[in-house]
Amino acid sequence: MPSFSSFLSTMAMPLLLLLASSLIATNAGNFYQDFDITWGDGRGKIINSQLLALSLDKTSGSGFQSKRDYLFGKIDMQLKLIPGNSAGTVTTYYLKSQGTTWDEIDFEFLGNLSGDPYIVHTNVFTQGKGNREQQFYLWFDPTKNFHTYSILWNPQRIIFSVDGIPIRVFKNSESMGVPFPNKQPMKIYSSLWNADDWATRGGLVKTDWTKAPFKAFYRNFNANACVWSSQASSCASKTPSSAADAWLSHDLDSTSQRKLRWVQKNYMIYNYCTDWKRFPQGVPAECKRSS
Ligand SMILES: *[C@@H]1O[C@H](CO)[C@@H](O)[C@H](O)[C@H]1NC(C)=O
Repeated sequence: MPSFSSFLSTMAMPLLLLLASSLIATNAGNFYQDFDITWGDGRGKIINSQLLALSLDKTSGSGFQSKRDYLFGKIDMQLKLIPGNSAGTVTTYYLKSQGTTWDEIDFEFLGNLSGDPYIVHTNVFTQGKGNREQQFYLWFDPTKNFHTYSILWNPQRIIFSVDGIPIRVFKNSESMGVPFPNKQPMKIYSSLWNADDWATRGGLVKTDWTKAPFKAFYRNFNANACVWSSQASSCASKTPSSAADAWLSHDLDSTSQRKLRWVQKNYMIYNYCTDWKRFPQGVPAECKRSS
């Protein structure tokens, strides 16, 4: 017996260490450990540790949220959006803090008739104030396959990316008096709901309930992030030197800048920074920065 158990421990230890170190390096998520389905009366389901589904019908939508709070991170999620006629539906995926002066970083996917393009709507709220919308079409059909939607949030900037291609950057402009989300920890949220009063062609196209239930799928959640608990950040105790922590100071290199310009030139359909009608007294201060 002793020899058998010592055999086991000598064999198992390196394996355990290997597993533990690979988990730390990638922070591969697990839906059971990282999220709670918060509403929808059974319409939201964790299918396995790497797959989750939200569903919407005429009675209700559904949603989930992270168990943990984060203060900065690179958070990736793969989504496969509702196929076919998804008009009037909205799939949201965002980070948000609590309280009346909350911060929020939003992705919203506005459904459409079969064959018509989804709109990716983005926004950044600081101190409870948003009005920073940018909207995009995608360069692929987001209902055919899973695609990766990422929020990189560090003290200098927020980068929204799709399949690793940056679509939007919100820079820290505190020096110009613009608040930046850097003090309030946020949870990750997602929901699928009906908004046919505005979502598709500004509310002209209504949801076809004969196509319900509508389903969106989530896969391969991954967070390289600073977890906030008991008033402390998990990042405070370690030196951000490893490659896995590069996101903490990440900025776009010239290749990524070029990709960002490509998206903004070809796929951007709304930018609050160029909506002079909406801001007759002048567009917000952060818009006046170069790129
Ligand atoms: C839906 O398709 C129409 C027609 O192509 C387009 O104008 C609109 O921007 C699309 N997206 C949404 C969410 O309305």
